[in-house]
Amino acid sequence: MTQKNKMGTAVVTGASSGLGEVFADRLAQRGYDLKLVARRKDRLDALAGKLKSQYGINVTVLAADLGSDTDLEKVAEDLRNDKSITLLINNAGTSTLTSVTKTSVIKQKEMVNVNVTALMLLSNAVLPQFLEKNEGTLINIASVLGFYSLPISAVYSGTKGFVIQYTKGLQEEVKGTNIHVQLVNPATTATEIWEVGGVPLSALEQSTIMKTEDCVDAILAGLDKGESVTYPSVNDQNLIDAYEDARIKLLQGSQTGQPADRYTQN
Ligand SMILES: NC(=O)c1ccc[n+]([C@@H]2O[C@H](COP(=O)([O-])OP(=O)(O)OC[C@H]3O[C@@H](n4cnc5c(N)ncnc54)[C@H](OP(=O)(O)O)[C@@H]3O)[C@@H](O)[C@H]2O)c1
Repeated sequence: MTQKNKMGTAVVTGASSGLGEVFADRLAQRGYDLKLVARRKDRLDALAGKLKSQYGINVTVLAADLGSDTDLEKVAEDLRNDKSITLLINNAGTSTLTSVTKTSVIKQKEMVNVNVTALMLLSNAVLPQFLEKNEGTLINIASVLGFYSLPISAVYSGTKGFVIQYTKGLQEEVKGTNIHVQLVNPATTATEIWEVGGVPLSALEQSTIMKTEDCVDAILAGLDKGESVTYPSVNDQNLIDAYEDARIKLLQGSQTGQPADRYTQN
């Protein structure tokens, strides 16, 4: 019989490359058993083998296309039934960086399915057991492009905007419990997603690109500090505070029940 792990099981989606692969390593190092999700089973199997022998933890591989309703439901069902889960990182994501009229409908839907629908349904899958146990950690990976759109990122930015608002809503829902929900907004990081999206890393200003390991270690340092929103590459805390403050003040300023003067005065 497998020994019960007191850290529990961490689920990492998108563990076959980039941030997810490094998250898997760091969480294994912290002593979690792992459940790794992505499409490329060969990569997940290789990573699972390496982490098992390096850290002596248990690793389960779930090869699944999170853009497919059938596969997504299978993963969600697995997560609902696995009461050992203490942490979920919704990290899987995809991008196609071109204008909307040049992006196929298939690619647009894939971004919504993976970045939005899968993240939402997998959060749904673990939250009931977290609430029941009054503990658990959910980390949702959004992006700085979730609050800023480029002419090539309308759909991707839209999906990440969803992640930001959805995760903030969940944080409000779990207030007063021991459940921690962390929203993460990385900026440019050296992973395959740029090649996948059609913009090679070589085309970017090199000084703006963060190393994958640095990004993950900053995110986990933010988690350890108990942060609810983590911007791995933003050095100036005042920028984060000013943005948060402006967001709240704008909402408060909207609650007047009256048309603004500029629309009624000639
Ligand atoms: N790199 C950046 O500059 C940056 C910046 C901000 C936010 N992010 C976010 O960070 C997260 C991780 O991305 P990354 O940068 O590490 O890129 P990455 O190396 O391309 O990793 C993406 C991961 O998502 C998985 N994935 C993609 N489509 C999937 C699908 N249909 N079903 C299941 N898994 C799927 C991929 O696995 P398979 O291909 O094997 O399925 C891969 O493991 C994403 O949410 C991304 O939007 C990245």
